[in-house]
Amino acid sequence: MKFKEVSITSDGLNVEFSNGIKDCFPFLWLRDHCKDDVNWDERSSQRKLFTALIDPNIKVSNVKIIQDSDELEVKWPDMESAVLYSSKFLFQNSFGNSHVGNSLEVWDNIKISKNTIEIDYSSLNKSSGFEGLLKIIKTFGFSVINNCPKDMSSVEFIANKIGYVRNSIFGGLWSFESNSDMADSAYTQEELRPHTDGTYNHDAPGLQLLLCCDYDAQGGESIMVDGLKIAEEIQKNNKGCYNFLSEVDIPGRYYGDGVELLAKRPVFRLNKQKEIIQVSFNNYDRADFRLPNDQISNFYSSIRTFDKIANDKSMQWRKILEPGQLLIFDNWRILHGRSEFSGKRRMSGCYINKEDFESACRMYGIN
Ligand SMILES: [Fe+2]
Repeated sequence: MKFKEVSITSDGLNVEFSNGIKDCFPFLWLRDHCKDDVNWDERSSQRKLFTALIDPNIKVSNVKIIQDSDELEVKWPDMESAVLYSSKFLFQNSFGNSHVGNSLEVWDNIKISKNTIEIDYSSLNKSSGFEGLLKIIKTFGFSVINNCPKDMSSVEFIANKIGYVRNSIFGGLWSFESNSDMADSAYTQEELRPHTDGTYNHDAPGLQLLLCCDYDAQGGESIMVDGLKIAEEIQKNNKGCYNFLSEVDIPGRYYGDGVELLAKRPVFRLNKQKEIIQVSFNNYDRADFRLPNDQISNFYSSIRTFDKIANDKSMQWRKILEPGQLLIFDNWRILHGRSEFSGKRRMSGCYINKEDFESACRMYGIN
């Protein structure tokens, strides 16, 4: 992208790009975004400028297009040297640069095939292989990594490639068989209905990794359900239920092992554009809470609707993990569950923060 024309107006700097997109950048915004070494620390990527001290009525004194139309040279009244702005930077921040939609693919079981979501552990040593893994998780919300070493070392290796192991009440890296000593339902052999973890955390775990280390059992299918698909179904068929689940805070609680954690948010947490940014659903961990009486039947019917869709097999991906297979999933989007089993099943795993997964994606240009 190059600059075509630029002019100073009373509202700001009018810019026309070579593709015909036009924009007017306010002076104050431009002054705040000076990336020269007086205003910006290149080494730390931090602003040096005290924005609050800029004259709110500041105006560009002079501007010209230079460097084969790749840069603007801007003169400010409060600065000695001119400041350069690249066409790439301004175009990225232009309202005319319509944001390319994200690469999410909302799914039910029909759309997910083995080739789509499985990847080999050995491929993660190559940059392209690791990027492939991030893309699969970003697109579908989960992936299966095959041929992992059957111990915690592979969980730790993958976690450290993406970000780092998140510490929690369960420790950092964990390993478990069915264990009646632990307070959490994850340690039983009974069916675990689809849920998300950490409804009791203000910042719920972003990714969860689950490695099958040993399997000598009957049953124990791992279950994945796309929370965004559940939301799509509910929004299409039951608007009132969707509104309820996206507006009413539901509390989660973890009580045991010497702690009491509490947090609350709606099942579908929306941003200001009404897009879903997080799905949270865990009936096991729901805290005692009381809504006004006229909302009670609405609450229970909404829970019923959600749970019914999440447990519909046509919505689920199901697989018995074999030793050496690692399931990695976005806990802000995907519900996970497990069918009941008998016998021995030993798993290892860990959590990774959401922000660290997002960071890894950005570093590879994955939106
Ligand atoms: Fe869980």
